[in-house]
Amino acid sequence: MPGWPMLGCGMAPMQGGSLNRRRLLQGGAAIAACGVVWPATGAGRFPSRTVEYELDARPAVIELAGQPVRLLTYDGLFPGPLLRAREGERLRVRLINRLDEPTNLHFHGLHVSPAGNADNVFVEVQPGGSFTYELIVPPGYGGTFWYHPHRHGALARQLWRGLAGPLVIDPLSPPPALAAAEERILVFKDITVADGSPAPHRSADWARGKSGQLVLVNGEVQPRLRPREPLVRLRLINACNARMLLLAREDGKSLQVIAHDGHLLEAPLPLETVLLTPAQRLDLLLALDDAGPVTIVHKPYNRGAQREPSRTEPLFSVQPSTNAATPALPTRLTTLGGIDPGEVAVRRSFRMAMAFLAADGQGQLAPIEAQQGDLELWEITNVDTQDHVFHLHTWPFQVWRRDGVPAADPGWRDTINLVPGERVELLIPFRDFTGRSVFHCHIAEHGDAGMMGIIEVRGPGGQRAAGPSLDYGAALCRSG
Ligand code: C2O
Ligand code: CU
Repeated sequence: MPGWPMLGCGMAPMQGGSLNRRRLLQGGAAIAACGVVWPATGAGRFPSRTVEYELDARPAVIELAGQPVRLLTYDGLFPGPLLRAREGERLRVRLINRLDEPTNLHFHGLHVSPAGNADNVFVEVQPGGSFTYELIVPPGYGGTFWYHPHRHGALARQLWRGLAGPLVIDPLSPPPALAAAEERILVFKDITVADGSPAPHRSADWARGKSGQLVLVNGEVQPRLRPREPLVRLRLINACNARMLLLAREDGKSLQVIAHDGHLLEAPLPLETVLLTPAQRLDLLLALDDAGPVTIVHKPYNRGAQREPSRTEPLFSVQPSTNAATPALPTRLTTLGGIDPGEVAVRRSFRMAMAFLAADGQGQLAPIEAQQGDLELWEITNVDTQDHVFHLHTWPFQVWRRDGVPAADPGWRDTINLVPGERVELLIPFRDFTGRSVFHCHIAEHGDAGMMGIIEVRGPGGQRAAGPSLDYGAALCRSG
């Protein structure tokens, strides 16, 4: 790996002994030396059963805010139907393409193989064709996720026109603290309608990211939820192309965040406002009382390319049932293993502007080749004048530091926002899964326009995975 400073595994003092590559690769061991609790993923124990879905990608006319709109849908629904399985189960999804262009699926945030017929974004399903995906989420990696098309060069347009849906992987052992909570899944999607269709992209959209005038929640404008239980778990999914949602309660009380990007925090985190960027998920716990409905609003946020909304606007509200007695919030949800930065084997550094750039600013970042078993540190700096949303497929990461300061919330994530000038250091354990995958800006237009990088993780033998060329653009843009 010429050019990258290498930190040997044994360089820094470590908690509890050395974490060598072999131990990481053995799998099945519940606890690695650095204190991370790795779920056991021993082959042979899973899958316990298979859950099957069929998704029909097809145009459909859907009524949005009182007017019929020609969208692209899964099964004629907007958002698409919920896919749900349990950790360790095989999730089989047959995608049927009834569009007039190629498409495919990505299961955003899942820690599953990126190869073969798993979460392989290099697959292309032709019009009239179909493809069957099969995924097994290892125990410990359940949560709130979503699915959307991921054909390079067509992602932004297909997502904009309606193709997105929620995906929930239930844990093998659900936290008892959340047992009493009633669940609601909310998919946010913005749209501008022109002549009965989502307004087509204009050239400025590719630089700014396309925002819509209307923010829909599960396809509705400002819906009111009426849960039966006083304790509600909201699974929020931002499926917008580019719109950032700065969320708050209208009454000014704190939001109680219990998970980001599907991964539980140790305890509910009270926040007055929280930013939900494109592709991120946020689980909130809401304890209703007899003070009436709770309204969740979004506040003006300036992402550099756009400030929106112009003033605080309601998104949805939650109406308590009449005889609600206020439930207490749990104080403990899970235990997070921290990663020891002393274990870092490989350190990489690059920049984001409208592309991924080498650390010295000299040209495009080369495809990344990593070794299974390594803990890597990626230092990423946003050198642009607008926010960019970094997303890595397959391998969740922990944010170690922001601008050199240890991050306050070390939970696992798959998508993170960088404001202009910001520098983050991410710790990424490449423990499971080999193969080729991608990282990109999740402002969907930016990804299509070139903020897309390739990563290949090699197994112990060091061989490259078979598959498309590392030149992602050349491999996938040709069918245009
Ligand atoms: Cu939401 Cu590359 O994905
Ligand atoms: Cu971007």
